[in-house]
Formats: sequence, structure tokens, C-alpha cells
Amino acid sequence: MNTTIIAFFNNKGGVGKTSLVYHLAWIYSELGYRVVAADLDPQANLSMLFLGEDRLEELWSEGKQRNTIFGSVLPLCKGLGDISDPHLEIVADQLALLVGDIDLFQIESHLAESWSSFLSTQHYHQQETQKQIISAFWRIMQNASVAHQANIILMDLAPTLGAINRAALIAADYIVVPLSLDFFALKALTSLGIALQDWRKQWQEKLENKNLITDIKFPLGKMEQIGYVVLKHSVRFDRPVKTYQNLLTLIPKIYREAVLNNPGDSEISIADDPNCLALLKNYQSLMLMALEANKPIFQLKPADGIIGSHFTVVKSAYHDFEVLARKIAERTQVNK
Ligand SMILES: Nc1ncnc2c1ncn2[C@@H]1O[C@H](COP(=O)(O)OP(=O)(O)O)[C@@H](O)[C@H]1O
Ligand SMILES: [Mg+2]
Repeated sequence: MNTTIIAFFNNKGGVGKTSLVYHLAWIYSELGYRVVAADLDPQANLSMLFLGEDRLEELWSEGKQRNTIFGSVLPLCKGLGDISDPHLEIVADQLALLVGDIDLFQIESHLAESWSSFLSTQHYHQQETQKQIISAFWRIMQNASVAHQANIILMDLAPTLGAINRAALIAADYIVVPLSLDFFALKALTSLGIALQDWRKQWQEKLENKNLITDIKFPLGKMEQIGYVVLKHSVRFDRPVKTYQNLLTLIPKIYREAVLNNPGDSEISIADDPNCLALLKNYQSLMLMALEANKPIFQLKPADGIIGSHFTVVKSAYHDFEVLARKIAERTQVNK
């Protein structure tokens, strides 16, 4: 059986995707799930959070076997065969990381070419390499999951609508859209909605084609949207609080129209919107402390600089992420 893959995606940067994947990966592992966190963003911010600079530099150093996601696709990029076994960096007993890599962009052109020729031609038996390339991310994540005996795979992505993300997103069973309160970012959801619906349709039509005969296992392109997470604003003095309130009221409608392509007819508030998975607190300085300590917020200790009222926030952070993790598990039917 394949392991469920959940992608956290928005084509806008700085909306809290990576921080969300990082904290959810930790929470799931603390709740007893076996987790693979997959860093498919060539910026590798998620890997930086988990491992810190020194370890990451070591993993990226020249001359050694590249123990990253790029290392696994390298044979494909060089035309030397199929994917190699993924290296898993063990972060905690239950939690393993498929390490990101700044060089991952090298596969972008291969993915772009393979996608268009695979979709356009009828000579399926001649295209083993293309099939290997298009399905590579999904197969690497599934192989990693078998090795780690994982119950769930969480995937972090770059904020783009390019070929890497297309291959990564067709590998996703479910998609969560992290949002921040920024009018232009909300408007940009329209392009996200169109791209995802197109890719899903193209992929699924191809899979349904009876002429498609292959020994390679493919992802199903399920890509089910299960909701959004809103990162609350931190107070900025150049913008009135009212602006943020107005944006909050727009989100349910914009998400439904842009992402689900299902406008609906009633106005609904964010509190009543079933698509809203969470309104995530802005932890401000605590998030910085967590970054510095290479820990999730809810593991911060006095030695990391936690004092007084911080303790309550740290505790409530655990609770908030736990509620969100359970909600996502319920919607994706992932069990331990
Ligand atoms: N809940 C939060 N509270 C405070 N700061 C946050 C929170 N989530 C993210 N951030 C900060 O916002 C910035 C962007 O977050 P990040 O997770 O890297 O977003 P993305 O992956 O979408 O680019 C980072 O500096 C991060 O530390
Ligand atoms: Mg990121």
C-alpha cells in the first residue's frame, strides 16, 4: 500500500509553508506517527530548520555521495539509469527527512521536457525514461516511506508553478494551502487554482488512457484540496488592523472560487468555513528562538531563552498544532 502524501503549497513565498511542515512533522511524530518530511524546495529551508547549517553543508559537500533528494534523481539527470535509493536523515525516532538540495533545479528542464512529450505522444513503450522522470519524486517518497515504515509523508515545496512542483504535486494525495493576509497573495490564488486543476486533469486523463502500458508505478494524481491554514498577521504600524479584518472576511470566498472552482452562493465567515483548517497564531519572537535553537516552538526550554509568559504560549502552541494535525489526519484518513 502507498503512503499518503500531503503537500503544503502556495505559489506565494513567506506565507508560513515551511514552518508549518516543520511543526506538523514534529507534532505527528510526538503523537506516535512515523513521519517522512520531504523537502522538495531547492531553497532547502525545511532541511535547514531540521538540520542546521553545519550538517547541511556536510551533506552538500562536493565529492561525496549526495545524500539528498537530488542525489536520488541524479542518475536520471545524467542519463545513467533510474532513481537511486533515497537517503533518510533521521531527526528523531519516528521522524525522518528527505533532505533538500540547492541543485535540485537541475532536474527542472528534464521534468518539463518529459511532461510534454509524455502527454503528447501515443508511443508509450518508447518512453520509459520519461515515465521514470515524471514519477521520480513520487517513487522516491514512497521508497523512503517503506524504508522508514512511515504512516505519513509531508511535503514542502518552493513557491512556484514550475515543472518541479508539477511533478511533486501530482504525487500528492492531498493539498493544504497556507495563506497569509496579503491582498495580492489572495488574488494570486486564482493562478494556483487554474494550474492545479489543469495538471490534475492532464495527468488523470493520461492515466485513464488504455494504451498506457508501463512497468513503472505512477502516482494517481489525486491532489484533493482539504483546506487552508491562515497565518495571522503580526501588527504592522503601516497598515490599519481593519485591513487585515477585511482580508479575513474575503478568504472563504476567494479560496472557494479560486482553488475549488466552486463559488457557492452564501457568504460564510472564516470561523464557520469548513475549508479553514486553522488560524495560526503569529508567534513572533518565539518563532525566531525556535529557529535559532533548531527546535519546534513547543520544545523550547528556559535554556533556549523561554521566560515568564512564554511558557503559556509554548504550551498553547503544542495544543494548537496538535488540533491542526488531528484535523488533517481525519480529513486524509491517515492512521498510526
Ligand atoms: N506562526 C508563525 N509565527 C511567527 N512567525 C512565523 C510563523 N510562521 C512562519 N513565520 C515566519 O515567517 C517567515 C516565512 O515563513 P516560512 O515558513 O519560511 O514561509 P514560506 O515557506 O511560505 O516561504 C519566516 O521568517 C518564519 O519564521
Ligand atoms: Mg518555504
